[in-house]
Amino acid sequence: MKESLYKLKRRIGFLYAELGLAAGRGLIAKAISAKIGRPVKLARLFKGSGWGLKYLVYEQGESSPAYLVKTASLIIERRLQRVIGREYLTYRERFKMESEVLSSLARIGLGPCVILCEKDFFVREFLPGFSLIELPLPDIKKWLPKVLESIDRFCDSGVFHTDPNSANVIVNPGENKIGFIDSEIPAPGSDKIVPERTKRAFCHERLLYSLGRDLRKKAGFKPELLEMLFPPVNDYYNQSAGSILSPGRAIDLVKGRVIQIEIPA
Ligand SMILES: Nc1ncnc2c1ncn2[C@@H]1O[C@H](COP(=O)(O)OP(=O)(O)OP(=O)(O)O)[C@@H](O)[C@H]1O
Ligand SMILES: [Mg+2]
Repeated sequence: MKESLYKLKRRIGFLYAELGLAAGRGLIAKAISAKIGRPVKLARLFKGSGWGLKYLVYEQGESSPAYLVKTASLIIERRLQRVIGREYLTYRERFKMESEVLSSLARIGLGPCVILCEKDFFVREFLPGFSLIELPLPDIKKWLPKVLESIDRFCDSGVFHTDPNSANVIVNPGENKIGFIDSEIPAPGSDKIVPERTKRAFCHERLLYSLGRDLRKKAGFKPELLEMLFPPVNDYYNQSAGSILSPGRAIDLVKGRVIQIEIPA
């Protein structure tokens, strides 16, 4: 009941925000069709927290989406501007930052390719699979080491993902692949002044802390089930050379006993 009310509220919020779309759906579809040389249609995607509105892009006759568009609503932007104040970044800046990070991840096989980045919207490949947090706990346990390794791999490549939370990791069991989405904030240039080691620690902490927090919010959650995740977490931080976190801190982050570090301003 609570869940369906939440979904309904989200849908209504989406439809309201859509009244302030920065770029019309018809215009977006036309731009994508021109880019790929085939007709497409857009379908609303109600998932996500909603700094941007998302649409799935289907090529004619296909039942699986090929791409995903993120676009802005001026109604949401006005609210963000009011709440965030001086730190507010325009959607153009945010889309540019997110596109750059996703493109860097795509180059190492850990994210969707960006096929178009315009001022009011951008389009990336749709990654088939499930968000890490959507998986049942035994599957999260199974995939967790590969997710942590993937974080280390993008950090090794010099990519700074500013929000690797458990909903921003896409697991594709069919192809045995991990992908990361949704990276924006902090302000342009600040990634250059944060030391590499801090960025790596932040990415690990963000994933572990958000995973524990989001699991605790899931319907039917039982605290003892969380313990299932402790052995793989313990093993990962015990074994990996020059490990960025102690196993104890990593488990405390999952438990929510300590709070993750933030990116230094
Ligand atoms: N390229 C993609 N491939 C597959 N699924 C995606 C992709 N991008 C987004 N999604 C799905 O949509 C959800 C929301 O997308 P995303 O994380 O980019 O937005 P958000 O969390 O709402 O953030 P924002 O505030 O930036 O809009 C994701 O958790 C994921 O399930
Ligand atoms: Mg997200």
